[in-house]
Amino acid sequence: MTTDAAPVPLLEVQGLTKRFGSLVANDDVTFTVRAGEVHGLLGENGAGKSTLVKSLYGIHQPDAGRVVVDGRDERIASPSHARDLGIGMVFQDMRLIPALTVWENIALQLRDTPRVLKPRDAQRAITDASAHYGLDVDPSALVRDLSIGEWQRAELLKVLLAGARVLILDEPTSVLTPQEADALFDVLRRLTADGVGVILIAHKIREVRQIADRVTVLRGGRTVLADTDPHELTDAELVRAMVGTSVKPVSRRPEPTDETADAPVVVSLRGASVLRPTGVLGLDGVDLDIRAGRILGVAGIAGSGQGELADLLVGVAPLRSGSMELPGLDARGTTTGDLRVAGVVDVVANPVHDYVVRGMTISDHVALWEATTAGRRRFDVRGAATTFARRDERAGLRAADPSRRLDQLSGGNIQRVLLTLALTQDARLVIASYPTRGLDVLTTERTHALLLEARDRGEAVVLVSEDLDELLALSDEVVVLHHGRVAGTVPAVDADRDRLGLLMTEGAA
Ligand SMILES: Nc1ncnc2c1ncn2[C@@H]1O[C@H](COP(=O)(O)OP(=O)(O)OP(=O)(O)O)[C@@H](O)[C@H]1O
Ligand SMILES: [Mg+2]
Repeated sequence: MTTDAAPVPLLEVQGLTKRFGSLVANDDVTFTVRAGEVHGLLGENGAGKSTLVKSLYGIHQPDAGRVVVDGRDERIASPSHARDLGIGMVFQDMRLIPALTVWENIALQLRDTPRVLKPRDAQRAITDASAHYGLDVDPSALVRDLSIGEWQRAELLKVLLAGARVLILDEPTSVLTPQEADALFDVLRRLTADGVGVILIAHKIREVRQIADRVTVLRGGRTVLADTDPHELTDAELVRAMVGTSVKPVSRRPEPTDETADAPVVVSLRGASVLRPTGVLGLDGVDLDIRAGRILGVAGIAGSGQGELADLLVGVAPLRSGSMELPGLDARGTTTGDLRVAGVVDVVANPVHDYVVRGMTISDHVALWEATTAGRRRFDVRGAATTFARRDERAGLRAADPSRRLDQLSGGNIQRVLLTLALTQDARLVIASYPTRGLDVLTTERTHALLLEARDRGEAVVLVSEDLDELLALSDEVVVLHHGRVAGTVPAVDADRDRLGLLMTEGAA
């Protein structure tokens, strides 16, 4: 008997290939997950990360290759089969039922849910697990009332209580603030201490450094770096593995000045209030001047009114009280259509939900975009491919071929299409909500450059982001929202993380 033999990995993938028609999304991929480790799965947008984990969770059937779970070859036929094998997945577009409570959602997924369920028992099991893993969430809360962080913790509890020993997280941090991401990583450490193996897809090098014990990098569907200790690599080497070339750092932006503080006002809000669908005020008496040629950063903890502000500015949400004046926009009214034609461009927070039309190609979306921004009813689908090629060249985000279906692109590649349209539009006002969510390292940098270019062309840019570093790097001024009110407006020249953080959590002094 040997005592020093390496333990059998929880999960091993050998030579896995997955095609969609002629497209090879995973090409001869090798991948291993061991008990007690966080394995970072990295790569550019479209590299094949989500496709790989979907094969492990039984959503896709690979065309070739082996998947070995606990030392046994398995053909994972479905997600419920994956769960039976101890493989759990938390999706980015979360899958809880909003009208049910947290415990009801979890009970629905438990393997041994009895036909007649005792709510008290289910709630106790959830409370115990939530204390053990530090996953703080109220079991009796309705899911629709949860913040995005709570929602994610509920999803995690659901997967853990269903008995997952391999936990797959596809870009869990892209919707979290850095503090929430840190809290999630604390949970992951407790899980690995219990012997769980975690597959974590993430784009930010900082996060990989913080949490990953091993990394695997995919590029163009192939494994280009397998099962490596990230501490053996520099940041530049990691990025090079992902993108295939070495990358020069982009030039730093000049020191912030307040020269444009008196630029013409494009939109002016006075006492602006907006109701949420639930009937409570999401935006509450906000005074704000949005000026040409400036980037106005919007900071706040999740649900502080950022969404309502964006919805108001693009005409989706009506004013409950107060006023919205549009001196810098030649708009007939404040409907979405009027504002679009007047040059208001919307980078929506959740494109898969609010922008992508199932079954339609990129060209179809381009034609729709062109028609609505011009206030036309005619769609020119044939001209769209040419227009898009021109925009793609200008934006430099390397968007996918316009003949492809938008809903079949990877998450980051959908975002690139939307950004290619939005940031090449001759706009007066750009509302960019979380524009770099889900983007890989290079595309994030290029998007930042495009936002600065829009500003320098004289466009007014409203940048909503949960990433304070991003806000501080790009904004000329940051407005902090707290419970729907303006807690403070800080010029970039005197903004720092601590000051913004305090306003975000404590509100106005
Ligand atoms: N259902 C599908 N039908 C057709 N093509 C698909 C499908 N799912 C994924 N693809 C393609 O497979 C490739 C890999 O996509 P995948 O979603 O795995 O990328 P990813 O690495 O997760 O990227 P991202 O960082 O943007 O999320 C892409 O070219 C994508 O368009
Ligand atoms: Mg993906």
